[in-house]
This record gives sequence, structure tokens and C-alpha cells, in this order.
Amino acid sequence: MRVFVTGASGWIGSAVVDELLAAGHDVAGLARSDAAASALEAQGATVLRGDLDDLDALRRGAVDAEGVVHLANKHDWANLAESNRAEREAVETLAEALVGTGRPFVLAAGVAALAAGRPGTEADPSPAIGPGSPRGGGENLALAYVDRGVRTVSVRFAPTVHGDGDHGFVAIITAAARRHGVSAHVGDGSTSWSAVHVADAARLVRLGLESAPAGSRLHAVAEEAVPSREIAQAIGDALVVPVTSVAAEDAIEHFGFIGMFFGMDMSAASDHTRRVLDWTPTGPGLLEDIKAGAYRHA
Ligand SMILES: NC(=O)c1ccc[n+]([C@@H]2O[C@H](COP(=O)([O-])OP(=O)(O)OC[C@H]3O[C@@H](n4cnc5c(N)ncnc54)[C@H](OP(=O)(O)O)[C@@H]3O)[C@@H](O)[C@H]2O)c1
Repeated sequence: MRVFVTGASGWIGSAVVDELLAAGHDVAGLARSDAAASALEAQGATVLRGDLDDLDALRRGAVDAEGVVHLANKHDWANLAESNRAEREAVETLAEALVGTGRPFVLAAGVAALAAGRPGTEADPSPAIGPGSPRGGGENLALAYVDRGVRTVSVRFAPTVHGDGDHGFVAIITAAARRHGVSAHVGDGSTSWSAVHVADAARLVRLGLESAPAGSRLHAVAEEAVPSREIAQAIGDALVVPVTSVAAEDAIEHFGFIGMFFGMDMSAASDHTRRVLDWTPTGPGLLEDIKAGAYRHA
């Protein structure tokens, strides 16, 4: 399949590109810089130059492809409204280009705010479309295109898609621990995050692209609930610094923007995903990865 991938140069995107190429697909990756373009070419992908706001480039990429994987996100944590606006416009543009084709449109989503007091499941809808919704409601926007002949597949990633070289949330928490000389959790550390290794996440994206039914919500989740105090303990052990607690009201000052999320419960199940796509995660667990030094660069 000829696949257009946005966010192809990112942490998950570069693993997805490798996974797709290894499975025999052709990949065209969106790149907004020379460095991203060179890296993609070195992997064996072709390049479509453009920014997320370049809607003509997105349209062209989607029209020329037999399937789309949308992973790019501005991640402007100081201006989430702008990230969410860009996400909605990108989703709309890519999906419109696929109307009536039956082609797959796989997009990234998250597991935040799916359920209270229990792990979120694939049956739980995302909060409604809107500027205040996580990711601007991009998932629901994309799923609405199923009725217009698009095979939309949402892949909800665990809040940590971990592995060696990850610069995401756990790297940022590790950097805060290094800065402060203590590894902190929020409150009593009893809230949990789900987790998945990047190679398992990339394989799930490929399986979703190749065969998930239209309207699927898939959970890229290998570990349902890793308590945040165990994450803090593993980071503390790796850095050889003590573990402590930070009050919820001080979390942003201590951690930076990630303080908004570290105390949040983002546990999630993936029973349905495993069953439907015969997906069995095999990568190391989060604590194992931290212990093995995956965040030594942070
Ligand atoms: N990693 C996780 O744990 C996790 C968890 C839940 C959801 N997700 C979602 O999964 C997707 C991939 O995440 P990731 O961890 O791979 O993120 P990442 O490493 O930060 O990569 C982001 C990608 O988006 C591209 N991008 C950012 N702003 C852009 C713009 N204005 N125009 C064009 N491209 C732009 C980046 O390009 P450059 O290389 O040029 O910067 C990069 O390719 C994202 O939508 C993310 O929100 C990730």
C-alpha cells in the first residue's frame, strides 16, 4: 500500500515508517525541515515537504495515497488551543481527501479522560468535539467520516510510548528529577498510567492500517496501570536520587507542563484491540526500560 504518514520524523512516526517499510508498504512522509527529510530518505521513504498548516500539502499527500497515518501534532503545551485548532483542521483536510474511497485513515489519539475510577476501554467514546476537548476532539471528527466512506481507525496511545531514545513524558519527568535531585510523584502516587513499548505501538499502527474495521478505536496499551509512585521510584533508582511527593497544587511548578498530567489517572485496557487484531505486545515494560537506562539521556 502507498501510505502517507504525517509526523513521520517523530518518535512513534519513525518507528511506524520502519514497520511499514519492513512489511513491504511504500511510505511518503511529511517533513517540515531538511533534517526530517534526510532522515526519512535514509530510512527508505519518499518525502512530501510541508507543515501541518499547509493544508494543500496534506490534501495532496492524502489524495496520492492508498492509506493515511496521521501522527503529527504541534504539542504546543503553552497554547493547547492552537494545537487543537491545527489538529482539527488537519484531520478534516485529510479525511475530506479520502471521502468515498474506503481507504484507511489511521490517526493518533490518547487515553485521557475516557473513564473515571476505572481503566478506559475501546468502548468509551472520547469527550465531545470542541476546543476544550483533548486533542480538540480530533478522534470524533475523524470517526464521523466513516459514514462518508472513510475507513477511520483511531489509535489511542498510552501516555508513555516508551523505549530507548524516547524524549516524551517520561523523559521530561526524568529531566525534572535530575534538575531537582529528587524523583517526585504527585500526592500519594496512587494514580496510574498505561504504557506501551514503541515497537509494539508501531506494529499496532500497521495492523490497524491494514485490517482494522472502519470506526475502530484501538488501544496501544501493553500495561494497563503502572502506579506513578513506581515510575518515580524507578527513575529515582536509575538516577540514584531519593523519591519524594509533590502536592498537586505544586506539580506544574515542580515538573513544568507535565505536572498537568503526571498526577492524572490514565490507565487503560486493550482487551478488545488484542482480540480484534491478534496483537500481542512483546516489548519490555516501562519500569524495565527505565531500569535498563532508556532515559539516561534525559
Ligand atoms: N509518545 C507518546 O507517548 C504519545 C502518547 C499519546 C499520544 N501520542 C500522539 O502520537 C503522535 C506521535 O507522537 P510522538 O511521540 O511521535 O511525537 P513527536 O516525537 O513529538 O513527533 C511529532 C511529529 O509531528 C511533527 N510536527 C510537529 N509539529 C508539526 C508541524 N507544525 N507541521 C508538521 N509536522 C509537525 C514533528 O516533526 P519534526 O520532526 O519536524 O519536529 C514530528 O514528526 C502525536 O499525535 C502524539 O500526540 C503520543
